Amino acid sequence: MEIQLWKDILNPYELAVNELLVKFNHLIKEHRERGIYSPIEQVNGRVKSISSILDKAQKKKIEIEHIEEEMDDIAGIRIICQFVEDIQKVVEIIRNRTDMRVLSEKDYINHMKSSGYRSYHMIVSYSVETLAGTRHIKVEIQIRTLAMNFWSTIEHSLQYKYKKHMPDHIREKLSRAADAIIVLDNEMSSVRSEIMDAQNSFQIQANLVRDILNNIQNLYHVANQREIAKIQDEFYRIYEANDIEQLKRFHRELDIIAEGYRAQVFE
Ligand code: GTP
Ligand code: MG
Repeated sequence: MEIQLWKDILNPYELAVNELLVKFNHLIKEHRERGIYSPIEQVNGRVKSISSILDKAQKKKIEIEHIEEEMDDIAGIRIICQFVEDIQKVVEIIRNRTDMRVLSEKDYINHMKSSGYRSYHMIVSYSVETLAGTRHIKVEIQIRTLAMNFWSTIEHSLQYKYKKHMPDHIREKLSRAADAIIVLDNEMSSVRSEIMDAQNSFQIQANLVRDILNNIQNLYHVANQREIAKIQDEFYRIYEANDIEQLKRFHRELDIIAEGYRAQVFE
């Protein structure tokens, strides 16, 4: 048997996971900066440990020489959403990207596994550049809600604890808990638009405050100090009023003032 240099084998997988984490996190940031709701709540990633790779290879009778072709989840990304509806949005985002090619999909949301497990799985091919040239890496992306993630984390620990011998009464409890997760996700979906509105206005307010204070900071260098102090006092007064419409108006007015100064500077 050829000698396995695990570090060399796993290096491109690590690069793929790191790049994808940067990209998905940037997507969350882009949504937040524009004050629009992000279908992705949070993203995690990992490279399978060598011992789990060996375990799985043994179980599935995969020869070590062939793990790269035959094991789909050496690189894993998990995308957590708030609502079931967000999952399909994320699936579309992934399908439409040009930096990953979808190889297969499994819908365990509409087709729950017998264990009670629910999640949407996509295997994608993702390219990384290494010293040895371009490498096409398979990545398993699991997309699920916070509630589904809660269930599968607990179930995974119990599976690990009992190995193949999970007692029936535990299995039944998990099955009932899985049904409760469906009810919970449905209940949450029914208030989705309200929650989205609340989160959006929070983000819009945060962006407004950031822009206003930026403008005041810029004015500090060009405008009359007394005038800036007045503007700042006015800002705090409006801020305390807790009225987003007033804040928007103030932001527009400040923009006009700042614009006036910029025009003067260029004269
Ligand atoms: P694997 O041998 O796990 O690759 O099975 P598979 O190729 O049939 O893939 P499947 O889509 O069923 O599962 C892939 C991954 O989904 C697993 O490695 C787990 O992370 C997760 N998963 C699948 N079924 C369950 C389950 O019943 N419980 C939990 N907690 N996770 C699951
Ligand atoms: Mg698999």
